[in-house]
Amino acid sequence: MIRKKICVANWKMNKNFVESNDFLKKITQKDLSPNSCELVICPSYDSLFLFDRFNSQLSFGAQDVSYLNNPSLTGEISVDMLTSHNCKYVIIGHSERRELLNETNESVSLKMKEVYNSEMIPILCIGETLDEKLAKLTDEILDKQIKKAFSKIDFKSQKDILIAYEPVWAIGTGQAAGYNEIKQNMKLIKKIINNIYTNNCNIYLLYGGSVNENNASQIINIDNVDGFLIGSASLKVDSFYKIFKQL
Ligand code: PGA
Repeated sequence: MIRKKICVANWKMNKNFVESNDFLKKITQKDLSPNSCELVICPSYDSLFLFDRFNSQLSFGAQDVSYLNNPSLTGEISVDMLTSHNCKYVIIGHSERRELLNETNESVSLKMKEVYNSEMIPILCIGETLDEKLAKLTDEILDKQIKKAFSKIDFKSQKDILIAYEPVWAIGTGQAAGYNEIKQNMKLIKKIINNIYTNNCNIYLLYGGSVNENNASQIINIDNVDGFLIGSASLKVDSFYKIFKQL
């Protein structure tokens, strides 16, 4: 059986619902069918209602979720709310949230548990900063991020889990990590996971950080890379589609 590839668009705080609708209309007019790659769009919450409209051709994800099941929580969105909109994936622990919104390995672990126990699939984001890379701490950081993220999950059921390796210094800089560096770190991530009991969950590894139509085909051919998490290059229909076609 061919292992599927996964191409995830992380739109961050770009595109209002009119612009999202326009993008989704245009991309679903293209030929998406004869491909073993799953196309996933993660728009902002104001486009949640569009998930149902385009759900038959695309998969959808949210960019975050609350780990608390308390309705008295201003400004948060729950697992149940996302599930009710046919949301299939949830991005957890993106470095922008870790850096600017006090997301910690602890809150990431709580969100991982909530999403794992739901019908949705987590997309766990991990990656080292430039300072950590220069201090040769990458291995330690990735090990800590993964072990903590998985620490509260009771691996009873088998399901898909996506891990996006995104070196922080490569995000939005136009400077993707090099071939050997991605290869080495993906191998390390695989090794860390293999030492954790995951009840044979299907773990897919994505690379994120300045993926574009010019570097996609080289990166997708690196061992253990099952797909991408894409920011800037996912905002334009043509560039996103060109990447998808290379998977
Ligand atoms: P980028 O963003 O593709 O613009 O580097 C990736 C991400 O933040 O997930």
